[in-house]
Amino acid sequence: MDRAEYREVSLRTWDRVSSGWSAERELLRRALGPVGVRLVERLDPQPGQRVLELAAGIGHVGFLAAEGLGPEGRLISTDFAPSMVERARAFGEELGLENVEYRVLDAESMDLDDSSVDAVLCRFGYMLMADPAAALAESRRVLREGGRLSFAVWAEPERNPWAAIPGKAMVDLGHLPAPERGAPGIFSMADPGRIRALVTDAGFGEPEIEEIRVDWGYADPDDHWRLTLELTGPISEVVEGLTPDELERAQELIRERTEPLFASGGPGLTGVALAVLAE
Ligand SMILES: C[S@@+](CC[C@H](N)C(=O)[O-])C[C@H]1O[C@@H](n2cnc3c(N)ncnc32)[C@H](O)[C@@H]1O
Repeated sequence: MDRAEYREVSLRTWDRVSSGWSAERELLRRALGPVGVRLVERLDPQPGQRVLELAAGIGHVGFLAAEGLGPEGRLISTDFAPSMVERARAFGEELGLENVEYRVLDAESMDLDDSSVDAVLCRFGYMLMADPAAALAESRRVLREGGRLSFAVWAEPERNPWAAIPGKAMVDLGHLPAPERGAPGIFSMADPGRIRALVTDAGFGEPEIEEIRVDWGYADPDDHWRLTLELTGPISEVVEGLTPDELERAQELIRERTEPLFASGGPGLTGVALAVLAE
């Protein structure tokens, strides 16, 4: 799939799952909250600043930063999927936030002036983009000199079974091609070496990378499967094209592989994120 085609499919997919993200916003707040809090802490937003959030989904992370910006400051909450932006707007209005501007914006080609923001925030966005190098170069362009970039991606599949198991099952069943090295996807920036190269090639200094553990708190394998369908763009896209029998077989295989993790009393279906800070 070429970049343009990937972008079109990705946009359609994320637009479709925006309803699931909205419905599960409390779970997302709880499970991914520690990552968002840490990203904002490291960004250290100051009153009066302009903060740009990329691939904001329904807006959670930027809303944490908005509190620190005060009435003179501005959060620009953006996503390339229009329905995500509309849901972020509804959510922000419900929270009574008045210093937020909502925009449909493709992070790979931003309709923003050079050096026009003080900080850039992005949780679990860059690794899904067709061209993360372009998105990081665009982030550097719109950031003022000395402004901070704080973002998160997922660590390697072995430490993120909640996402690795469904993805691998779809490959094993022939519903997805095996992921190509460097191709966009949930684990495409799991290698700290690749993160460093992408970030510094975009014009930032050496990034500081730290790990954050994520606990989804799935009740059981069925809960995991339901939330995977509801929230995971790429898996929900594959599932759309399956027959009922194929779907049942996929669910069975995923259950077979997740059940032992629930039963073992071990770490379960947890995850590890990488929080990256660069200037
Ligand atoms: C996994 S979700 C993360 C949402 C949010 N940042 C969070 O952590 O709750 C990925 C988001 O990236 C957005 N996205 C993917 N590619 C994008 C691009 N090129 N430009 C802007 N947004 C993009 C999707 O629409 C989706 O909302």
